[in-house]
Amino acid sequence: MIGGNASSDLARRLAGKAKARYVSTELRVFPDGESKITISARPKKGKIVVVNSTYPPVDSNLLHTLVLISKARQFSSQIICVIPYLGYARQDREFLPGEVVTLAVIAKLLRASGVSKIVVVDIHSKLGLRHFGIPITNVSAVPELVNHFKKMRLNDPLVVSPDSGGAARAKEFAKLYGTGVIALQKQRDRKTGKVEIKTANLDKVRGRDLVLVDDMISTGGSIIKATEFLKKQKCGRVFVACTHALLIDNAEKKIRRAGVSQIISANTIPGKTSIVDVSGIIAKAI
Ligand code: R5P
Repeated sequence: MIGGNASSDLARRLAGKAKARYVSTELRVFPDGESKITISARPKKGKIVVVNSTYPPVDSNLLHTLVLISKARQFSSQIICVIPYLGYARQDREFLPGEVVTLAVIAKLLRASGVSKIVVVDIHSKLGLRHFGIPITNVSAVPELVNHFKKMRLNDPLVVSPDSGGAARAKEFAKLYGTGVIALQKQRDRKTGKVEIKTANLDKVRGRDLVLVDDMISTGGSIIKATEFLKKQKCGRVFVACTHALLIDNAEKKIRRAGVSQIISANTIPGKTSIVDVSGIIAKAI
């Protein structure tokens, strides 16, 4: 198991669960921005697993993942690459004419690097999987997130998806959690990125604790808009369950200021809120 710089903690846990030898990597970034990666030991022949997330700096982490795969290929033809957070997954189709479907290009690069199988956690949309053309498994962190919420004491909880695109994920969460679910109608301006909630008034949420379920938080815009709307409907406390907490700039502060009591995320991206460990479910997939 080779742990890239972006996922060393998760890779170590994964190695423990999969009973694999852990090989660390050393990253050196030169003044001109180029980077050099050295693996700490020679992997044995047989299956090699490379683990590296592609959160910001996305492009650097993506390149590091590719070079680690190509290094691993010197020792084995059986390479599994675990990309816990797959960056660019939202660019899986041409939304506006002329846009590049970057995810398709990344899939091509991964294929060319010689990887045999890819494992990702909660890809933004399952439509993205069709670009790969090699075996790819999308693992859901939802059961682990639900297990965490089951240990918390929420008042008459209701699961809320901030948009219709995430409704299936929220439904899966609610089913395991044993609660009801609703989906808000969100509209994002494809040019400016501005988010608006289009849902009409909702009596259902009054006085109830809510769990907003999303695949990822980037700037926090979607969660903030949803929380502001739900607070206006006189809901109880608002919690956020998400897989990938990018929390760009001071997104966490802004989300808390909007009235969110707690953000709980998975360790696909290391950080303060990333308290739900997904190494067990990834281990099963590899
Ligand atoms: C959108 O469809 C995604 O599921 C997330 O809700 C969104 O990408 C999060 O981005 P931000 O935090 O910047 O609103």
